[in-house]
Amino acid sequence: MSMIPTLTNVEQESIAEIVHLISLYPLLYDEPEEEVERILKSFGLEHLAHKKYLTYLMYCLDAYTPDDRDYEKLRDTLYSNSIDNAKLIKGKIQEALRIGAHCPAIKTIYDIGAGHEGYADILQEVYPNAKIILIDKAKIKSTKYKTKKMTAEKFLDNLKPSSSTLLFFSEFFHCKGRAKKLLVHNNAARCCILVNELLNNPFIKFRLQQTDGDLIQVSDVVSLLKLNGNGSDTCIRHSRYETMFPYYMVSYYPIKFVKPKKTPPNRSGKL
Ligand SMILES: C[S@@+](CC[C@H](N)C(=O)[O-])C[C@H]1O[C@@H](n2cnc3c(N)ncnc32)[C@H](O)[C@@H]1O
Repeated sequence: MSMIPTLTNVEQESIAEIVHLISLYPLLYDEPEEEVERILKSFGLEHLAHKKYLTYLMYCLDAYTPDDRDYEKLRDTLYSNSIDNAKLIKGKIQEALRIGAHCPAIKTIYDIGAGHEGYADILQEVYPNAKIILIDKAKIKSTKYKTKKMTAEKFLDNLKPSSSTLLFFSEFFHCKGRAKKLLVHNNAARCCILVNELLNNPFIKFRLQQTDGDLIQVSDVVSLLKLNGNGSDTCIRHSRYETMFPYYMVSYYPIKFVKPKKTPPNRSGKL
């Protein structure tokens, strides 16, 4: 353990970065949770030796090989974070939606890559009359909402776009950078979109290199939304959890929803 760097150089950094730094440190990869807990304490990071953070940290360590990610562990942490920070998240969602200015009456919300029902509860408070459906490629446990086990790609291919539909992507694009092309999917681009994604920081960059580009930078999401935008978009930097990662909340609204015109039949018979 003597090779573990002291934290003096990063003391000024956010806890989020410390978590990433530790999670990237190779010697920790094969350590059991108890040992990781002991090391955190020896660094004076008792506040991170809490069960909730440890679960996430163990996820980060396990996730070194992208194929080995255990989403069950991650979901437990993400779910409890969304519950614990519901008020803060709700405020940021409302802020992003309000600045968007063209926010229409939302009737249906699809939480894409939902993972758990924590966000649906918050979205339901923001839009009490909307119907919320959770989409994920893996099975989602939910007692309150309709769920669909389906990839986002397949879901969007079959979606009927509408400006009264909100597509919510939270912590989705960093899982597979290639998925960001979904933002310019023809059907997605004609709906309202709200994205909550990890902030770019040096450790995220490192993970990008390690994952061969699969872990993307938030600027990609923002520029894609702009590129896509004939509507308005807004980007809010926020620390979602007091002790965890900084995020960007991005919203995008199509200015007006144009139904594809039906070409009238040519009755004259002339060309
Ligand atoms: C990091 S978790 C985020 C969970 C939740 N949205 C949140 O912010 O707490 C990413 C989720 O996206 C799902 N996912 C990843 N790729 C997907 C795809 N191509 N189609 C549908 N779901 C996908 C994973 O199964 C996982 O539940």
